[in-house]
Amino acid sequence: SVYARITGTGSALPARRLTNDDMAALLAQRGLETSDAWIVERTGIRARHFAEDGQMASDLALDASLRALQAAGRAPHEVDLIIVATSTPDMVFPSTATILQRKLHEAALAAGGRGPIGAPAFDVQAVCTGFIYALTVADAMLRTGGARCALVVGAEVFSRILNFDDRTTCVLFGDGAGAVVLEAVEHDGSGPGVLASDLHADGRHTDILCVPGTVAGGSVLGDPLLRMDGQAVFKLAVGVLEETARTTLAKAGKTEAEVDWLIPHQANIRIMQGTARKLKLPMERVVVTVDQHGNTSAASIPLALDQAVRDGRIQPGQLLLLEGVGGGFTWGSVLLRY
Ligand code: ACO
Repeated sequence: SVYARITGTGSALPARRLTNDDMAALLAQRGLETSDAWIVERTGIRARHFAEDGQMASDLALDASLRALQAAGRAPHEVDLIIVATSTPDMVFPSTATILQRKLHEAALAAGGRGPIGAPAFDVQAVCTGFIYALTVADAMLRTGGARCALVVGAEVFSRILNFDDRTTCVLFGDGAGAVVLEAVEHDGSGPGVLASDLHADGRHTDILCVPGTVAGGSVLGDPLLRMDGQAVFKLAVGVLEETARTTLAKAGKTEAEVDWLIPHQANIRIMQGTARKLKLPMERVVVTVDQHGNTSAASIPLALDQAVRDGRIQPGQLLLLEGVGGGFTWGSVLLRY
């Protein structure tokens, strides 16, 4: 049968890096107090990257995509499907995926090639679960012959929607992008590829994590900045992450003990520790980047994946469990053999 296999990974972070001390200095200008000790203890975050003015989600997506394509040994014109997971798109429409497509084309032209013009391109919006949703959609399209070589990207500039007068949220997030090239391969099930996935949403919890504003009548209607009930999110997150992990493993006939790497959404080290404990996975088998990236929403899982691939932790044949949870409320997981 046909499986969707990751053949290349890439990521990108804006150059501007802020430590917790930098955030404390920034907040002090607004008469707010925070500290490295508070942020590290509650979240595990030590630093995050913020985009420069004018640096958009599609710019970070482009850099991550070009790196993933290079790792896969693929040229931009070979891509026949582009899916971008983002909650901080360049504009209301068209999708960031189509803007990425144009930028890939321009980059390819400059190198004497051409871009993936004509391939379907669309965004997926599931906040921090966005990459899990996008990967699951791409997997389904590849397995049913709708595409052969997909680019699946998570790209965010959350710094644009942070309320820097709210110290409980603005210290948690960062900007970045991660991308994978996903290709259709045929084997008996023992080779590499996505083995199972599981997606969920519960729209009753819209209010606990949202940016409630919108664009109407030529101006912003409502609050365009992020609001979060941190404790409500925390309580929901650990339970659903355990449940979705178990569901996906059961679908593939695998056990927790067989998982080589858990690559969770990087929101908060305590949520990751809580999930790992419930799944009886030692933290040595959990990829953690939240300390250096903060919460980059849909970008966090492919960013962590790329980092662990490039530093050699993730090896071919290993079993990876990716899982995410976020606004909506949405959650889900993907089990794959690398
Ligand atoms: N610096 C210093 N003090 C702070 C800060 C800050 N940045 N933020 C809040 N405080 C204070 C509060 O004012 C409060 O003070 P008080 O006791 O005098 O009123 C105290 O710290 C405790 O505040 P709580 O909100 O109760 O802190 P809590 O332990 O719940 O931690 C946190 C807050 C880190 C947001 C936690 O609830 C959490 O991790 N929630 C999960 C949310 C999350 O990770 N969301 C990511 C997005 S969703 C997702 O990706 C899944």
